[in-house]
Amino acid sequence: LSQKPYNSILPPEKTQEQVRLEEKLLKSSRLYATISHVNKTIVYARDAGELFKKICSVAVEYGQFRMAWIGLIDKESQTIVPVSHAGHEEGFLYRMKIGVECMGPTSHTIRQGKHFICNDIENGPAMGAWQKEALNRGYRSAIALPITKFGKPFGNFTLYSQDAGFFDQQEVDLMLEVVTDISFALEKFDNEAALQETERLLKESEARYRKAQAIGRMGHWELTVENAQVTWSDEVYSIFGIEKDDTPITFKTFLTFVHPDDKAIFRKAEEEVMSGKHRLDLVYRILLKDGSVRHLHQLGKILYDPDGHPVILTGTVQDITEQEQKEQEIQERNEQLRELASNLQNIREEERTYIAREIHDELGQQLTAIKLDVSWLDRKIQGEEPVKQRIGSILSMLTDVLHSIRKISTQLRPSVLDDLGLIEALKWQVRDFETRYNIPVHFDCPEDFLVTDAGITTGLFRIFQETLTNIARHSDATVVTASLRIKGEQLLLTITDNGKGFDREEVKKKKTLGLLGMKERTLMMNGQWEIDTTPGKGTSLSVSIPLITPEIKEDAYLNSR
Ligand SMILES: Nc1ncnc2c1ncn2[C@@H]1O[C@H](COP(=O)(O)OP(=O)(O)OP(=O)(O)O)[C@@H](O)[C@H]1O
Ligand SMILES: [Mg+2]
Repeated sequence: LSQKPYNSILPPEKTQEQVRLEEKLLKSSRLYATISHVNKTIVYARDAGELFKKICSVAVEYGQFRMAWIGLIDKESQTIVPVSHAGHEEGFLYRMKIGVECMGPTSHTIRQGKHFICNDIENGPAMGAWQKEALNRGYRSAIALPITKFGKPFGNFTLYSQDAGFFDQQEVDLMLEVVTDISFALEKFDNEAALQETERLLKESEARYRKAQAIGRMGHWELTVENAQVTWSDEVYSIFGIEKDDTPITFKTFLTFVHPDDKAIFRKAEEEVMSGKHRLDLVYRILLKDGSVRHLHQLGKILYDPDGHPVILTGTVQDITEQEQKEQEIQERNEQLRELASNLQNIREEERTYIAREIHDELGQQLTAIKLDVSWLDRKIQGEEPVKQRIGSILSMLTDVLHSIRKISTQLRPSVLDDLGLIEALKWQVRDFETRYNIPVHFDCPEDFLVTDAGITTGLFRIFQETLTNIARHSDATVVTASLRIKGEQLLLTITDNGKGFDREEVKKKKTLGLLGMKERTLMMNGQWEIDTTPGKGTSLSVSIPLITPEIKEDAYLNSR
């Protein structure tokens, strides 16, 4: 009998081919497990250090390699610096410096930029100086793979197997996949770092922006047209004196802050902006919860969608309360100074009138009386020639003095101004100017118009006088045209000469008082003063004075409603 029945219960002997296939299968499954764990590691690792460490451990644990390590290229020293390893390293990596130019699979890989296999360490020269050390640690074959970052050489992943001839094409393909994944992970870390850096810079810039807003008391706002919701920067909350919380601000809430007296102008400005007429540029007041009033300057513009529909109204708002207060103080001070100047002018004018009258009336009359007496003496004394001669010269001196007195008193304040009014006084001034300087003046004025306001009468007369004096002193003019007209509710005085004109900027530097005084006088009469001149082209001055004061105007307006 053959032994067949006994043999038939034993497993059949495996052929060599079957054993080879089983081993291959085992090897493949080890490598696939490695890949799948490497990928997991890539997903969860937070930085490159952690990634390298875990990948080496995975290679040893799941890929059952004898040793695995990762190194990075140090460009400066042209060496490869090991950063992570796992398995039987036993001082292998740190025994010698691994230069880029060395023998050995890793240096090869770095130099060539592609993987390098040494499938028989024992019998091949590929390990160079490391051969003995490698064999001592049970390394029989090795593969070095290049790691790149953004396409540039970055480091290596090197694995040692305890079996000679371990690496064939399939293993190489799988391991190349692993290094591609490592590169991807490294790039991802860099991108994340860049993103974090960008976020950090953004935060810094936001902080700076907030600080700048706080210093300038200027905030940024946005109104979404569709839902009337408002977004404010922190500074706007601070300006409006409210805490920033989760309650959305709407346009309606915002309007509750606008000062009741300014609501109308705000609405009007808003309508104009929404209709696309203007940009928003408005100064208005808000009333805070604590009852205080703030002055704001708001600027804004509309942003449209591609179809031309308004989407967002956006702009800035600045708290200008302090500037407004300062400006108001300056304005008040200016007004006080103007009032003071006006008062002094009036006093001066009154004094001039008084002195002119005293000189003319008192002194003039007394001298006339003396003259009459001397004339009487002249008639009574007869025959004494020397005495008569002396009396004659006294009489002629008295005539001169009387003449001077009239001249002085007229210069101080022409009586025609008080006796016959503005128009006659201006005409008198024209005649005086023509005879004195021999320059013709064409003066055009209404005959039947009476200015009753003493302030306007004196003011316009003095402006006219100063202008003619300037023409005589500075212009070299050969003719002057002047006119006094009524235009609507304005009294308009213009004086034009054909002289040499002047450069305004130059004249400003002179700090003279004539033009300044005219301007001030005009302001005192609530009027407008303008001088138009070009060097070589003459000078034209115009003054317009409202005949109805603003208060009267206001009353008239109110009554008519
Ligand atoms: N009609 C004019 N033609 C040419 N230059 C003129 C005329 N009016 C004024 N100026 C120039 O403007 C300057 C300023 O005039 P302004 O009346 O302020 O001062 P002023 O006449 O020089 O001195 P004052 O203070 O005594 O009046 C003059 O010095 C002159 O150079
Ligand atoms: Mg002058």
